[in-house]
Amino acid sequence: MRETQEIKTHGHSVRVQVDPEPAREGCPALWPTVGEYPIYDEFLYGTMTTDDERNRRFRAALAKLAPGWRVLDIGTGEDLLWARESVQAGARHALAIEVIEDAFHKAAGNLTAFDQRDLITLLHGESTALLFAPKADVCVAEIIGSLAGAEGAAAVLTDARDRHLVPGGLVVPHRAATLAAAVCLADLLPGRPVAFAEEALPYLQSIFDWHGRPFDIRLRIENPHADALLSDGRPVEVLEFNDDLRTEQRTTTRLAITRPGHVDGVLTWLNLWCLPDEEPLDALRMTTNWATIYFPLFDETVPVAPGDVLDLTVTATLSDDGIHPDYHLGATLQTADGGECHGSLASPHHGGPFRAHPIYQTLFPAA
Ligand SMILES: C[S@@+](CC[C@H](N)C(=O)[O-])C[C@H]1O[C@@H](n2cnc3c(N)ncnc32)[C@H](O)[C@@H]1O
Repeated sequence: MRETQEIKTHGHSVRVQVDPEPAREGCPALWPTVGEYPIYDEFLYGTMTTDDERNRRFRAALAKLAPGWRVLDIGTGEDLLWARESVQAGARHALAIEVIEDAFHKAAGNLTAFDQRDLITLLHGESTALLFAPKADVCVAEIIGSLAGAEGAAAVLTDARDRHLVPGGLVVPHRAATLAAAVCLADLLPGRPVAFAEEALPYLQSIFDWHGRPFDIRLRIENPHADALLSDGRPVEVLEFNDDLRTEQRTTTRLAITRPGHVDGVLTWLNLWCLPDEEPLDALRMTTNWATIYFPLFDETVPVAPGDVLDLTVTATLSDDGIHPDYHLGATLQTADGGECHGSLASPHHGGPFRAHPIYQTLFPAA
């Protein structure tokens, strides 16, 4: 079941398909992607503060790397998680930075209750616009998206390495990658309509309000059905925070279809290493606040079978804000009988078309 609701943003009235059934834990649900916009609230921070799979990896990395050093926590959030953790692990000092004003004020309130508050300095602003001394030895920055680079980690951490870290300083996390596999949207959401979860509507509204108009926002799939993948998963974006970190990249990969089905796009998800040699966090297979992102590529579903291949090219280029990447996906599906089918999608961080692809025409029906 789904129903149409209306949201109003900057003089635009937007009709939205909504699934009114309350969210059930572990069940598939469709949300707009949220992490790459300055709309964090108590609920979103709470999903991270309680993410044990994520937190134990950051804690282990800081326990190893922070003692005795100056730590820079970029995007500390309202809970100052990693600045506090660093100091508790024995860091000499932690400088915590937060760009969202409301989160910064909440962080300031939380800091007063922290018994080692003298070892933490909290600043309001964007790390890329701030100057400070002395430089840090270790930088921790949980600005990793469900699509690894979507929150601007490559540009922000390139700048941090250049201006805020001592030579040879280390970054946590160590590496992030986005993997992609061929899927069909209907398989990801079995038994659910193609409609946004009702709880997601305030976030959709906030993002459109922030941008000034509606646009075809990336689609976040919570708890996608485990059997939905039609191919193996391959990396399409890799961010090496302590090595050759590129702010723009282009990756072409071949996805081999492993079972019969229908394909209309790809599902992407995060792999994250806080330390180089650990087992990565896998957002598809583990319970974590990072979800998966679905990209439509073909206007209609295309039948596939083992032996078929999907050649996928994913390009990340910096958007006009110089921080957040715009993504572009191009795909060619080659079937074993010689058939070929092409698809593509532009997925800018902000702006871009509205209701361009049929899936967005379904999600945002015309009056
Ligand atoms: C994913 S949240 C992480 C919050 C907290 N560190 C945690 O791990 O739970 C990312 C935070 O980084 C902030 N942020 C992103 N880029 C930033 C930058 N360049 N400078 C300062 N804050 C930034 C966002 O506003 C947001 O509060």
